[in-house]
Amino acid sequence: MKALVLAGGLGSRLRPFSHSMPKQLIPVANRPVLVHVMEDLRALGVTQVGLIVGDRGKEILAALGDGTGLGIELTYIRQHAPLGLAHCITIAQDFLGDDDFVMYLGDNMLTDGVADIARQFREDRPAAQVVVHKVPDPRAFGVAEIDENGRVVRLAEKPAEPRSDLAMTGVYFFTPAVHEAVAAIEPSARGELEITDALQWMVSHGAEVRARIYSGFWKDTGKVEDVLDCNRELLDRLAPSVLGDVDGASEVTGPVVLEEGARVIRSRITGPVIIGAGTVVEDSHIGPHTSIGRDCVLTAAEVEYSIMLDGATVRRVGGRLLRHAVPDRTVRGQDPGSSRRPGGRRDDGPPAERAGSQPVPP
Ligand code: TTP
Repeated sequence: MKALVLAGGLGSRLRPFSHSMPKQLIPVANRPVLVHVMEDLRALGVTQVGLIVGDRGKEILAALGDGTGLGIELTYIRQHAPLGLAHCITIAQDFLGDDDFVMYLGDNMLTDGVADIARQFREDRPAAQVVVHKVPDPRAFGVAEIDENGRVVRLAEKPAEPRSDLAMTGVYFFTPAVHEAVAAIEPSARGELEITDALQWMVSHGAEVRARIYSGFWKDTGKVEDVLDCNRELLDRLAPSVLGDVDGASEVTGPVVLEEGARVIRSRITGPVIIGAGTVVEDSHIGPHTSIGRDCVLTAAEVEYSIMLDGATVRRVGGRLLRHAVPDRTVRGQDPGSSRRPGGRRDDGPPAERAGSQPVPP
């Protein structure tokens, strides 16, 4: 079985962070979402991965290379515009050939893995198999209606009145039967070739489309609050390891990963927390549920339930707590004498309103 991972798209819901990097590279527990996806695929025994990329393909190539470091073989496939999930299958036909494949949206995290579901697909080989998750309000999702045997009888995209509580996650299994379906459908009102339409076409033409229920943790990391939720979930599973330096005036409690070369000075770290290599934390309180990238600087800062991207700085936020935030550059408090960021823009006003810092309501 091959894999097709989708990492094109616009990422508009994740602005301003998706200006700094493609959303599939946003770190969750200090590793890009796409790396988590690739590891999930490896766990299925899949090593040949076609990766759909759009305008940000170069950044993704720089981060993942040819996949060797992850134990997979990556083939990059350029999509000139985000014309839909089913469109991705049409442009990947040379790569996919006549093989079965798993299609995985590059911004989705199913942190409990889909190994059992993949095994069921390999054993039963229905024409297609969708991975669904029970949600209280399915109106924002593609929804599958199934019969008592788990066979899909109807699909609907963001229905106003859903006929089931089964939302389609970002993982799909296909036999080559899908190619006829994607060739037969027309673009939707929003101009995209929809995967829901391709699946519905298969159902309407008598193909067997199955749904398998995934009941673990699932998030589409398209929005900031979902990225933070996902980070929290992974940090709750953190195996502690302190390789960096903690001075005698600091206190570290709970599960904490402190990478090599990181330094903690006169600070309190309340796990679960990860602090990346080369980061310096001074006179600060960090955690819980916070991941700090590499080479960050935190001085007199209080940060919890947040993600700091590599190289970010938080200085003297003056008693104000940075909570539910993803600072990617500089967050600075009233610090006379210095109000310009490296980028040259003014860095004044309350921290919550600055680019690069986006607190989310708890
Ligand atoms: P979406 O989240 O549906 O779309 P998007 O990335 O454009 O985000 P937004 O709505 O915030 O603007 O995409 C799901 C995944 O599939 C994501 O990893 C991007 C990828 N994708 C493609 O590779 N090609 C496409 O044509 C589309 C629509 C998405």
